Amino acid sequence: MQVKIACKLTIKVVYSLTNFKEQSIYVMKYAIISDIHGNLEALESVLTEIEKHYVDSLLCLGDVVGYGPNPNECVEVIRDKAEVILAGNHDYAPLGKLDLSYFNPWARNAIEWTADQLSESSKEFLLSLPLKMNLNGFTIVHSTPLNPEQWNYIITIGDAVRNFHEFEGRVCFVGHSHVPMIVSVKNEDYRAIRENPLQIDPDRRYIINVGSVGQPRDLIPRAAYAIYDTTNGTYELFRVDYDIAETQSKIIQSGLPEFLAERLELGQ
Ligand SMILES: [Fe+2]
Repeated sequence: MQVKIACKLTIKVVYSLTNFKEQSIYVMKYAIISDIHGNLEALESVLTEIEKHYVDSLLCLGDVVGYGPNPNECVEVIRDKAEVILAGNHDYAPLGKLDLSYFNPWARNAIEWTADQLSESSKEFLLSLPLKMNLNGFTIVHSTPLNPEQWNYIITIGDAVRNFHEFEGRVCFVGHSHVPMIVSVKNEDYRAIRENPLQIDPDRRYIINVGSVGQPRDLIPRAAYAIYDTTNGTYELFRVDYDIAETQSKIIQSGLPEFLAERLELGQ
């Protein structure tokens, strides 16, 4: 995979909205993924597809582990392939950094199982991950740009409205809900966008949820990944099949709750 190779062409971009600054951006093609959740089969299928796009950089928005049966393997693969990896709540929880009463019983069970499985190396790595990052004219965060450590969700347009003043650049990419979504704003005109692929409008700003690799919850069981290309200002979400039966079998064999296996084929 072509990653970590930044093109050195610079484009000057003057944003028309007043609440963020003039910035220079590099011509880059990014693959953006989130919420792998220890699902190695989904991760490998997504990476195989991403390879065909010849991206410059792979970004991961967190929740590498939790729920799925291969937490250490997913940590190893993603730390090798991704240029930037953020922390999600399921990455911090097995390290004792979050109060487990916040989670539902299935999630809590999986977090305790994951904590027992994680190697010292994986724990050290997950502990080092940041919550939010400003990159090449855009921001990435697992949950919300406003107080990311509170692990709130952006599910409605109202949720998005509260967050548009909390990030730099034209776009903020998020994960966390496992449901792909795009909300856009121009002059207080907020809209949910369903266009895919999406041509980024230079007069608008966007919050984009890239969906989930390892546990989609939009009733589509196929793994999600996104491509963001600053060359032509396009964003596209893709879905890919993976061996769900194999992941389900591993979940059941490992003693994780059966519900976590069932939900994969339902996409919820
Ligand atoms: Fe997640």
